[in-house]
Amino acid sequence: MTEALTDPIAIFKDAFARAQRTDRALLPEPSAMSLATAGEDGSPSLRIVLLKGVDDKGFVFYTNLESRKGRDLRARPRAALCFYWSALDLQIRVSGAATPVSDEEADEYFASRPRGSQIGAWASMQSSVLESHGDLDARVARYEKEFEGRDVPRPPFWSGFRVDPEEIEFWRNRANRLHDRTLYTRDGAGWRVETLYP
Ligand SMILES: Cc1cc2nc3c(=O)[nH]c(=O)nc-3n(C[C@H](O)[C@H](O)[C@H](O)COP(=O)(O)O)c2cc1C
Repeated sequence: MTEALTDPIAIFKDAFARAQRTDRALLPEPSAMSLATAGEDGSPSLRIVLLKGVDDKGFVFYTNLESRKGRDLRARPRAALCFYWSALDLQIRVSGAATPVSDEEADEYFASRPRGSQIGAWASMQSSVLESHGDLDARVARYEKEFEGRDVPRPPFWSGFRVDPEEIEFWRNRANRLHDRTLYTRDGAGWRVETLYP
């Protein structure tokens, strides 16, 4: 097997580049991925987040650390991700340990966001109950005033996680539901490669 076929991160990056080159009418949001976390009683919960970076160390996304997912991951630092790019007939599943990104990495990404999103990060108590939209508007106004005329710092409750993949599975659509499934499982410094029944 060639090097390229034994490295699922390289395969992911290649597919992601293809997804990004695909017409947005066919594949609107290549970075969107489902993120599954586990609650205190083991119940899963699932939502979409955006992939903001991928390399040999893992898959990075950003969020509010006090949100449901943030609390889940801080208490039970394991996650599963799933991409589905129908235009490419491809599903990709990833699972592994989730670790916080460094403060420097989070600062750098936060600084690259539009100012409105930075204020929004301060204003939103993500996943808490919002009594009225007026309350959110008031918080936005409060932080706009607080940071008027200066850079918006990253909130201490807002950062990223990196999911270090232990398993990556590529599912490719095939005729008669005889789909092609290739599972890569971390094995020391390399990966074990297996084909699964569809
Ligand atoms: C296309 C799309 C992209 C999203 N990207 C993010 C993201 O990168 N980070 C995030 O915290 N929430 C993102 N959200 C919102 C989440 O799906 C979710 O509603 C929110 O994070 C609260 O989730 P939680 O209560 O399970 O923590 C996105 C939603 C959609 C539909």
